[in-house]
Amino acid sequence: MLNIVVLISGRGSNLNALIEQVRSYQIQAVISDKPDALGLDIAHDAGIDTFSVLRESSQTLIQHKQAIYAQVEALQPDLLVLAGFMQILEKDFTERHRGQIINIHPSLLPAFKGLHTHQRALDAYHSSQGQQTLHGCSVHYVDYEVDSGALIAQAECPIYASDTTDTLAARVLEQEHRLFPWVINQIAEHAIHYQQKYVDFSTQAVQESRALGFQIKVPV
Ligand code: GRF
Repeated sequence: MLNIVVLISGRGSNLNALIEQVRSYQIQAVISDKPDALGLDIAHDAGIDTFSVLRESSQTLIQHKQAIYAQVEALQPDLLVLAGFMQILEKDFTERHRGQIINIHPSLLPAFKGLHTHQRALDAYHSSQGQQTLHGCSVHYVDYEVDSGALIAQAECPIYASDTTDTLAARVLEQEHRLFPWVINQIAEHAIHYQQKYVDFSTQAVQESRALGFQIKVPV
């Protein structure tokens, strides 16, 4: 059984999807950098151990993050899952845990790294006169640059002329809730392997990704 620790900062809808679609992994604990993150209630209701690492308990932001790293390392998970965790991880931490941290990002990377992805996708749609009609989400391994690292899989959704950032965000979130648990179950079942710059998939994972409509990059 793959032990995962989930880092959150807010609402926790992805955490909820991970709880509901658990198959081959086990959520060992949820850690939040915000004591009032709604996701902590979701974890608590599911009987999962929770830890809040308070900003006020540390003098500097770096010390705050180091306290989070110490909490993660005390738990020794097989995989650290960033599910709406709004902090940038330091290079020494990501290097120490290379291939053991994954993140979900609400865009089709490498497009729209960083924040406000739905607004930027809508802007691109309008400035291309409705040519750029695809948006979606990506799950990737984490390295020391923001929203980069080996891409694992993506789920796409359409952009419509009538979309607002809210309607578009909701459509992407539906895809996030399908994609993220699938990826983690595949990692737990040894069907997805980290290989430094790229990701290796079992034949079954490739077939399943096609059946589910997810995009993965496989060597041809
Ligand atoms: C999601 O859109 C995720 O892609 C991004 O932050 C948001 C978190 O939402 N990294 P939730 O807390 O999982 O509801």
